[in-house]
Amino acid sequence: MITIQGHTFHLQAGDISYAFTVDKAARNLYWGGAIGGEDLPKLAVEGFHSSFDPDTNAERGEYPVWNGHDFTLPCLKVQGTQRVHFLTYQSHELEKDGKTERLTLRFDSAAFTLALVYQLYPNGIIGRNSVITAKEPIQLEKAFSASVNLPCYQECEVRYAVGKWARENQLQQHPMSTGILTLQAKRGIPGPQYNPWVALCEKDAGETHGRVWFAALAYSGNWAMHIEKTEQGNTHIVAGVNDFDFAWALQPQQSYTTPVLYIGFSQDGYGAMSHLMHSFVREHILPPRGLRRVLYNSWEATAFDVRVEEQKRLAQKAAQIGCELFVVDDGWFGQRHSDKAGLGDWYVNREKFPNGLSDLIRYVKSLGMDFGIWVEPEAVNPDSDLYRTHPQWAYHIPGVEPMQARNQLSLNITLPEVQAYLKGMLGKLLRENDITFLKWDMNRPLTDMDSPELWSKHVQALYSLWAWLHQEFPHVELETCSGGGGRVELGSLAYAYQSWPSDNTDPYDRLFIQEGYTQLYPVDTMMCWVTESGEGRAPRSLDYRFCSAMCGGLGIGANLSKFTQEELEVCTRWIAQYKRWRPIIQQGVLYRLLSPIQGDMTAVQYVSQDRHEAVVFAFLRGQTYGTLRPPLRLQGLDADAEYAVNGTVYSGKTLCNAGISLALRRDFQSAALYIEKV
Ligand code: GLA
Repeated sequence: MITIQGHTFHLQAGDISYAFTVDKAARNLYWGGAIGGEDLPKLAVEGFHSSFDPDTNAERGEYPVWNGHDFTLPCLKVQGTQRVHFLTYQSHELEKDGKTERLTLRFDSAAFTLALVYQLYPNGIIGRNSVITAKEPIQLEKAFSASVNLPCYQECEVRYAVGKWARENQLQQHPMSTGILTLQAKRGIPGPQYNPWVALCEKDAGETHGRVWFAALAYSGNWAMHIEKTEQGNTHIVAGVNDFDFAWALQPQQSYTTPVLYIGFSQDGYGAMSHLMHSFVREHILPPRGLRRVLYNSWEATAFDVRVEEQKRLAQKAAQIGCELFVVDDGWFGQRHSDKAGLGDWYVNREKFPNGLSDLIRYVKSLGMDFGIWVEPEAVNPDSDLYRTHPQWAYHIPGVEPMQARNQLSLNITLPEVQAYLKGMLGKLLRENDITFLKWDMNRPLTDMDSPELWSKHVQALYSLWAWLHQEFPHVELETCSGGGGRVELGSLAYAYQSWPSDNTDPYDRLFIQEGYTQLYPVDTMMCWVTESGEGRAPRSLDYRFCSAMCGGLGIGANLSKFTQEELEVCTRWIAQYKRWRPIIQQGVLYRLLSPIQGDMTAVQYVSQDRHEAVVFAFLRGQTYGTLRPPLRLQGLDADAEYAVNGTVYSGKTLCNAGISLALRRDFQSAALYIEKV
């Protein structure tokens, strides 16, 4: 509900209040647990500033515009006939759209108008973005989505996810001290270096307790989040498209719309933060979709050597153990025998598939599976027919040798002729073949951008290709991937049905990646494969590998041709089990019971929405002789209901308060429990 009293705006949903007041500009009054609207005028907090400073009591802007007077990090910096800009408030507008409410505030300046948009969702998530419309020719030097302020003088810690290839989404947390912390991407793709979200929490907040304020940006290109704590002790997050190498020119009447920053608040720690975001993402971000299919992917088994006979052998085994979707990864096209050649030549390699793809697809379908395929449309190998014919289609700066990464260049997909080529290629592939799944990869950063606008235009062009795919081929599901987990964020998830979190499929390393991934993104978008274990490691048991991969959308990436009959039977049993538990895991509520960061036991629990069923996976890393562990305390069950666990009946409150003993004793041992209301 949005209520307006004079110039004070109060956004309320769930147990959350967000309030600001508008004078010339908008200033935050409050963000946190619910407050009485009648108390808003009483919220002013005592400030202090020396006569040597500008009025720092005025910090906490909802959208600071650089005007030469205010020194907190601004959201907007514009060059027009003047260098600095002052806003005056004009009007506001309220709209309702189904379950969401939208408030738009309009401000005016000599050079442009500004609209601040607040979209309020029922569970308390607020989407914030802004629209700048030019009145004279202007150049945007920085145009962020929003500034969000913590309550006055709130001390906090900051949590975020850092990473690199094969180590994505590693959680990091530390006290926020005075100064600026920057999380960002400047390589054209969101990247694994940081994931575009941040959480600020009270000191000592944990999985089940403490206040947490969080923000996540929906954008698949260069992004930035600056968390600034001023010398006064106020903390705010400014976030949006990175102003690193950014410029955007607007002629009169032209507008620039920023991506949306989603913000939320939890009273009860990170677990509740994840619950809020998971349900929000499922309901409002992801395309409408059903349960994730158990897939088989050829990459780790055959790499670039995807030949029809071997793929058929793998498909036969995949179907035998219960896979529902067979995906041929890289290597099926052009002269793609390694990562050195062929990218861009999207015609079937006839040595590998003498009768075309349809031969394999028919076979896969006859086994009762769907068929999917890998593409990387945004890139090209210099050693390809496409590059030899159209070298100008790759991003390049005249006179500069373009930089190669993974032996490839990036295509300038903003060019109409490149868009046409890609639509032609994808259209032909999907029309001529019975394909219901595309793994869309992007295995290098963007470089050699000849103008700063290209960074943003690339993202726009990508979204328009994905929108076209949805429209033309609504039955085709998209998986987003970028050299592992370099493209996992809300911008991509608006088009993708699922994503690939990491090329690291080691089942133990994955526990850390999955812990970081699920902070904000739902389990049913997180694909996890059972493979041969990580490089240079002793192989983990198949049980352990399955339990780790069953924590998300299950896939198999192992070379099944090398599996013994006994191993195939183990796979069959686990996949059948996963299919029975799948609605609980994929659509239930996730509780992270024990974190791999904090000890040698990791445990996650999934509870069905009606709380009738639950599944627990627990993992022991290493055993030290004689160490005894307390029972595992569950969460989210009905206290007074009775639940059966392995034939024994407990009350919900016993399972949640006293816990259950797991008897895990061996190194890298795992356990899976099914819990059902009786
Ligand atoms: C990337 C992906 C892998 C695989 C390869 C193919 O590394 O993350 O899963 O698709 O590309 O080249």
